[in-house]
Amino acid sequence: MSMTIALVTGANKGIGLETARRLGAGGVTVLVGARDPERGERAAAGLREEGADARFVRIDVSDEESAAKAAAWIDGEFGRLDVLVNNAGIMIDMAPPSGTPLSVLRETFATNVFGMVAVTNAMLPLLRRSAAARIVNVSSDLGSLGLMSDPSYAHYAFNLLAYNTSKSAVNALTVCYAKELADTPIKVNAVDPGYCATDLNAHTGPRTAEAGAAEVARLAVLPDDGPTGGCFMDDPEPGTIIPW
Ligand SMILES: NC(=O)c1ccc[n+]([C@@H]2O[C@H](COP(=O)([O-])OP(=O)(O)OC[C@H]3O[C@@H](n4cnc5c(N)ncnc54)[C@H](OP(=O)(O)O)[C@@H]3O)[C@@H](O)[C@H]2O)c1
Repeated sequence: MSMTIALVTGANKGIGLETARRLGAGGVTVLVGARDPERGERAAAGLREEGADARFVRIDVSDEESAAKAAAWIDGEFGRLDVLVNNAGIMIDMAPPSGTPLSVLRETFATNVFGMVAVTNAMLPLLRRSAAARIVNVSSDLGSLGLMSDPSYAHYAFNLLAYNTSKSAVNALTVCYAKELADTPIKVNAVDPGYCATDLNAHTGPRTAEAGAAEVARLAVLPDDGPTGGCFMDDPEPGTIIPW
C-alpha cells in the first residue's frame, strides 16, 4: 500500500480510467470506482498489469447506499482516504433546451450533481482522517456561465440544458464545500478536462482522454500551498482559471 489512497469514480473508461492510470503510475494506491463489477474489475486488472496498485470498488454514484457501502469498505481496508476524484458523469441531452424533457434533467442531475454530493458526503469522514486530502470535481467549460454566454467562445454552440446546468451546479457545489472545509487541510477544486474523445460525446472531441486526465491528476495531488475553491483547465497551461 502506498502513502496516498485515491478513489476515482467512473474509472472503468474514459477520463476516469486515464486519471486512475496517471495516479497509479505516480505510485498512488488507486481505487477504481465503477458501477459495473465486470467493467470495473477489468479496468483495475489492466492497471495492475501495468504495475499500479489498483483495486476495484463498486460504486454507483446515483445510489446513496452504494456510496455508503463503498465508504465502509474503504474504511475497513485503509481507514482513510486521501484523494476523491468525482469523475462519473453523463451527457444525455438530445433536444434544444425548450424540448428537453424533465426526465433528462432529473437523470442528469441524479448522476452529475446529487451523485457527486452523495459520494462526497459518504467519503468526507475518511477524507478528514487524511493529513492533506484533495477533492477534485470533474466539471466542464460548458458549466461556465461566463464562457457559455460569450458568442466568441469555441464551444458557445453547445447549448445543452441538462448537462450544462448540471456542470454549473458542480461549480457551485465546489465553492460551497471549499468554504465549509476552508479551516481543514482538505482542498476542493473543479476541473475542465477539455473536449476529449470519449464515449460521452461519441468520440467527437479533439483531445485524448489521456491528455484530459493530466489536469485532473495534477489537482488530485496538489501541494499544501495549492489553491482551493477554483475551477481549472490546462489550456494554455496547467492551472488556468476558468470563469464561473
Ligand atoms: N469527454 C469530454 O470532452 C468531457 C469534457 C468536459 C467534462 N467531461 C466530464 O468528464 C467526466 C468523465 O467523462 P468521459 O468523457 O470520460 O465519459 P465516459 O467515457 O462516458 O465515462 C463516464 C464514466 O462515468 C461512469 N458513470 C456514469 N454514470 C455513473 C453512475 N451512476 N455511477 C458510477 N459511474 C457512472 C461511466 O460508467 P459506465 O461505463 O458504467 O457507463 C464511465 O465510467 C464526466 O464528468 C464528464 O462530464 C468530459
